[in-house]
Amino acid sequence: MSDPTSLLQIGGAAQTPEKIRMALTVNGEDHEILADGAATLLEVLREEMNLPGTKHGCELGECGACTVLLDGEPVLSCLLLARQCASYEITTIEGISGGNELHPLQDAFADMGGSQCGYCTPGFVLSSAALLHRKPDPSRAEIKEALSGNLCRCTGYNQIFESVEEAARKIREENS
Ligand code: FES
Ligand code: FES
Repeated sequence: MSDPTSLLQIGGAAQTPEKIRMALTVNGEDHEILADGAATLLEVLREEMNLPGTKHGCELGECGACTVLLDGEPVLSCLLLARQCASYEITTIEGISGGNELHPLQDAFADMGGSQCGYCTPGFVLSSAALLHRKPDPSRAEIKEALSGNLCRCTGYNQIFESVEEAARKIREENS
């Protein structure tokens, strides 16, 4: 994690990070942000936009805790520069619910033990939401495949897979 007060040492000379203006559409709202041009999307969401639901995990693309949706597709926000995301619709866990109503996935994770410490949960919910959007009735194998980039240290995964199946069933019921 970069320290916003830190100086970059380049060739022995100290320089402050260069801030640039970037336009980002997050959870349906347009924002103009002034941020370090080298900042990741994860850093800008958490540190500049006060959206801490996107979790800071490995920062190496290995844990999935930082997953957000770009135009509906799951991406790892620790691996993207924020300025690369200007032309996309960004959805974070704060934007997945409908107002005060939890998304059916959030309900199911809470009810079925799919969320325990909760650190991995935003990433799992967003990856699952993208799956259910393109595949409303996924098989267990398809769920496992779609969530294979998200790691959980608490649940043993079965409760997560069951939560996704339950949410899928509820969404199909609501839409029928
Ligand atoms: S924090 Fe991005 S994959 Fe781990
Ligand atoms: S619920 Fe704790 S890491 Fe997944």
